[in-house]
Amino acid sequence: MELLEEQRETWGSRGGFVLAAVGSAVGLGNLWGFPYKLYDNGGAAFLIPYIIAMFLVGIPVLILEFSMGHLSQRAAPDAFAATGKRLEFVGWWGIIMGFIIITFYPVILAYCFNFLGHSIQGIFNGGQLPWAGEGIEGVEKAKDFFYKEYLGHTEGPGLGEIRLNIVLTLFIAWLVMYFCIFRGVKLVSKIVWLTVPLPWLMLLVLTINGLMLPGSMKGLAYYLNPDWSELAKPTTWQFAFGQAFFSLSLAFGVMLTYASFLHRKSDINNNATVIGLADFATSFIAGLAIFATLGGMAFVTAEAGNPVAVEDVVAGGPGLAFVAFPYALAQLPGSAWWSFVFFFTLVTLGIDSAFSITESVLAAIVDKTAWRRSIVLPVMSLVGLGFGLVFTTQGGLNWLGTVADAIYGTWGIGLVGLAECILLGWLWRVDHLRRHANERSDWQLGRWWTYAIRIFIPIILGTIFIWSLVNDLTTPHGFLKGPDGQWDLFGFLKGPDGQWELFKCVGLAVVISAPIIAVLMSMIKSPRNSGGGVPQHPAARAGWVSGRVPGTIALLLSIASAAVLIPSLAGLTIAGSIGTYLKIESIVMAIGAVAVSSYVLDKADDNGRRPSSLAQWAGIISTMDISAFFALCLIGMTSEAVDAARPVSAAENLSETSYAILAVVLLLIIGGLSWCFYRALTAAGRDAPPQSADGIIM
Ligand code: PHE
Repeated sequence: MELLEEQRETWGSRGGFVLAAVGSAVGLGNLWGFPYKLYDNGGAAFLIPYIIAMFLVGIPVLILEFSMGHLSQRAAPDAFAATGKRLEFVGWWGIIMGFIIITFYPVILAYCFNFLGHSIQGIFNGGQLPWAGEGIEGVEKAKDFFYKEYLGHTEGPGLGEIRLNIVLTLFIAWLVMYFCIFRGVKLVSKIVWLTVPLPWLMLLVLTINGLMLPGSMKGLAYYLNPDWSELAKPTTWQFAFGQAFFSLSLAFGVMLTYASFLHRKSDINNNATVIGLADFATSFIAGLAIFATLGGMAFVTAEAGNPVAVEDVVAGGPGLAFVAFPYALAQLPGSAWWSFVFFFTLVTLGIDSAFSITESVLAAIVDKTAWRRSIVLPVMSLVGLGFGLVFTTQGGLNWLGTVADAIYGTWGIGLVGLAECILLGWLWRVDHLRRHANERSDWQLGRWWTYAIRIFIPIILGTIFIWSLVNDLTTPHGFLKGPDGQWDLFGFLKGPDGQWELFKCVGLAVVISAPIIAVLMSMIKSPRNSGGGVPQHPAARAGWVSGRVPGTIALLLSIASAAVLIPSLAGLTIAGSIGTYLKIESIVMAIGAVAVSSYVLDKADDNGRRPSSLAQWAGIISTMDISAFFALCLIGMTSEAVDAARPVSAAENLSETSYAILAVVLLLIIGGLSWCFYRALTAAGRDAPPQSADGIIM
């Protein structure tokens, strides 16, 4: 089954692949996105959902994508099509999300190029930076520089004029991306030897410099002192999971595509873990660098008698990298050099992430249509650049924020991840993927992984989805709650004054259209895989169906459970009180249904039969039932939660809890990476692939 007629291009070496995947994962999301998301969402408390998202969900899903890409040797849509034609749309869904990202991500890169240019000019001008200023007035100057002078920013949905300075660097960004990938992955695997270690090195230098500044520990208090109350908000969880998926480049088909170019014998499990840990470590260290430096800034300005506290300059949001940090660097000695290092780090971090998305969209189109890569790539780059022009306008940043938030939000990437896991887990034999991965990996995954993909991860993602959805609909201007408390079905798309809000409407339209376009794409006939190429799993062909009777029972149970839960959710949405709605029988029936249907699937798998589709659908429905139940509990528990003001203030030091958090995180990173390297080294001694997966126990 692994012998495909066509010889697919491969990465040169294990290092080349791992670096390319790390290059994709580690990007602007780590240095620009993560620190401000954490700051906005509870400081160190945000690490709890984030670590869950990274390690309990992210890495297992990364293994899923790697093994699917590796098994099918195709880009995402075809790889999903290999599991059954009806799932092809899931692959396209991720690819379309990736396409949306590729319209705005290079624009942020373009900002970085511009700021890099200013820093270089600054070096030649004897250290003069155009945004430099002193004290609180200086903060205004830095803001004015970014928003007024550079972006020519206007509020509201109007676009205004295109900013030529941004267009120019956007063009440069696309050109660089084009030349990195036009020769295929062999060249990419060489480029990443530069674009991965170099920014790491610079980030390390920035971190050490930051930590050595007087006042740095006070800055870290903003990063590491937790505000636990934020955990009661669904948006915190949503952003943590969105950020984790985004940061790992997961559910966009990127990792799947990269793995499709992987050598047939290459390790999967260990690579995925190393990549996940490296990505997490980079984000965490980026946060240290940023907040330590901000602390240094606060100290210097206080000494100069014109104090600026960290919260004065960090307004929250994406301005962190373009206002707060440049301002902070401008207060410190050698400012032009340091901002050169910072923006150069951002550029080198971002470029390999940007081209990885381009590559996955490109590979999806090429695999589907068999058109020539040398034609599709330039056309696609021009289309991406063309859409990107919207974000180079005066109102562009508003739209960039809208689209980016939609990707992180309720209908965004977490939902694609949910679809990926639940559909593959129940409609296909993911256990087969586990065996495929185990046969060539440094260490073996137990059966738990199959259950994680099929049951636990969908429950986590499903709970967050339903919780967020109910929250969206019941926010002050949400569903049924217009400004005067009347029924308003579209309240969630309107502003406080009851007017339609264009940003909300477009944001939602963008993400909702993704699955629709995906279904349409999957209906287009492909000249490539009709009949051959993609290996169909034997289970898809096997004639014997097993488990009809238990399947029927499970299906009935899951529907009964849904019948209890749906009115509860609706009742809660309308009336807003939980006590009366939490019905224990719903969860009991749902757990029963999951257990029975999962058993039917495993049994069929062991006997080489096809499980009854009744059991498969019962599994899907009952997993969602359990999510709905948990969501109900969370809504009930958190509806009373008050939104406390951010507890950290200027004078605060790192608390004991923060030190504990720091220790745990560092232990996780260092321990995890050492373990992975140890396993790789001990496995390298054995040449034959490890024992057949069938004998593996938990
Ligand atoms: N992971 C990249 C980052 O953190 C962004 C990215 C998203 C890359 C999606 C590929 C796909 O910046």
